[in-house]
Parts: sequence; C-alpha cells; structure tokens
Amino acid sequence: MYVQNANAPARKPVTVPGLHAMKAEGRRIAMLTAYDASFAWQLESAGVDVALVGDSLGMVMQGHASTLPVTLDHMVYHTAMVARGVSATMLVADLPFMADRDLPHVLEAGARLVGEAGAAMVKIEGGAPHILAAIEALTVRAIPVCAHLGLTPQSVHKFGGFRIQGREQEAADRVLAEALAVESAGADLLVLEGVPVALGERVTKAVKIPVIGIGAGPHCDGQVLVIQDMLGITRGKRPKFSKDFLIGHDSVAAAITAYVADVRSGAFPAPEHCFN
Ligand code: KIV
Repeated sequence: MYVQNANAPARKPVTVPGLHAMKAEGRRIAMLTAYDASFAWQLESAGVDVALVGDSLGMVMQGHASTLPVTLDHMVYHTAMVARGVSATMLVADLPFMADRDLPHVLEAGARLVGEAGAAMVKIEGGAPHILAAIEALTVRAIPVCAHLGLTPQSVHKFGGFRIQGREQEAADRVLAEALAVESAGADLLVLEGVPVALGERVTKAVKIPVIGIGAGPHCDGQVLVIQDMLGITRGKRPKFSKDFLIGHDSVAAAITAYVADVRSGAFPAPEHCFN
C-alpha cells in the first residue's frame, strides 16, 4: 500500500507568509516542477520549498510542442497526484491556457485546483487588465496567486517562439509596470521567466512579493526549473538557463538536494545560465 509521506523528514510547512518572510530575510526560495507523486516525494524529501505543477506537463509529460493543449482536467489530475507526494512543500498549480477567458472560468479553475486537487496557490500568466481582475477575484476568495511575467509560454504564438523578453528599454519598463500591477492586484508570488539579468534585478528590488526566476538571473528571490531539464532528460537541447544537476551526482535525490543547496547559496544560476 502507498503510505502518504511515509518517513517524511520533519519540516515546517511552507506557507504564503513564510515565503514573504524568506524574501524579507534574504533566504532564497527553491522551486521545482513535479507532475506525479513519486517526484513530488523527491522534492519533499530534498527540502524543496515550492512544487509547481506547471502546464509544461504538456511538453514534458504529453509530448506536445507547447503548453497550449493542456486542459483544466489535465491540471487537476496531475495536481492531485503531486498533492499526495508533498506535505511541507507548498503546492502551486498552473491555470491552463484560456482558463482566463472570463471570471467564471478563472474561479472554476481556482476552485478545482485548490478545493478538489489540493493546490495551495494557482499561477496565472500575464499582466493584462483581465489578468489583474482574475488575480483580484481569486485573492478575495482566499485563493493565493502566483503571477508569471516575461517569457510567458502560453503567449508563444504572439512572441513568435520562446524568446527572451524585456531586452529593449520600453519592453523592460512594461514588464516592471506589470510586476507592480500584479502585486497591487494581490499576487503573493511572481515567476519571472526569460528576461535579462538587469531586469530580473530591477523587478526583484521593486516588488515586496518574492520573485522566482527562471532564466531571469541571480538577483531573484528564488529559482525554479522544470525537473526534466535539471535531471538532464530534456527532449532536444537543454535550455541555456538550466543546469543538469545529475552530472556529478549518483541519484535523483542527490541531484535535487544539490539544486536546493545551490539555489540557497546563490551558486545557481551562474553567469552561463543568464541572459544580458
Ligand atoms: O509550466 C511551467 O513549468 C512553468 C515554469 C517553467 C515556471 O511555468
């Protein structure tokens, strides 16, 4: 029989106020994706602060070329599996493509991911006015929100590919303005993806909420990677912003433990993982 969290190391559960305190105290936050109970348990055991059930599952689990085919049912299914593998690690789940089409869909997605599947927070991409309204609608109903700015993968067709964002001054200023807006709307966490180091630093200093970078440089309050990338099992070329932590380690557990240690110390990301 599968015993939930058997032999779980004693650890204080990661909470929303706890994440805010980590930023205030300068303690870096280690976040990784997970899509099933076994890997969730690996994250839990290695002391990962936040497990993200990303809609990247469309690519790394389902074999699609983008996150767009992922449905709310898929997200609920994977989130419920991950929930059975974590206890102290906070669980964040992505709102899939077009869950933001209107507020009833946003609230339905939030209710299912938190109430049915067991997430503690939902993540939503973008900073447009309807996203700000969605963040407000979720947070007033006590569903914490992680915003996601910069290279937002659900906008792949608008961007013309998975391209670094915020390189020009105007675009950088727009990302910064969006970060301040999602914070004002009530977001408790911000994932910042695929932006130059200088913009990662500007955004992290400008907002009070923790900023978790992925290809956003070393100045963010924490880092997140897709677990397949950090275990060196990316299909195709591993992204520049990632690192294969299995190199030099002889198990998945040791690789994840090394990732957590390198995020906490600031050793990851190194300059070769960053964009200018
Ligand atoms: O879907 C995902 O895994 C994500 C991370 C890349 C941040 O959004």
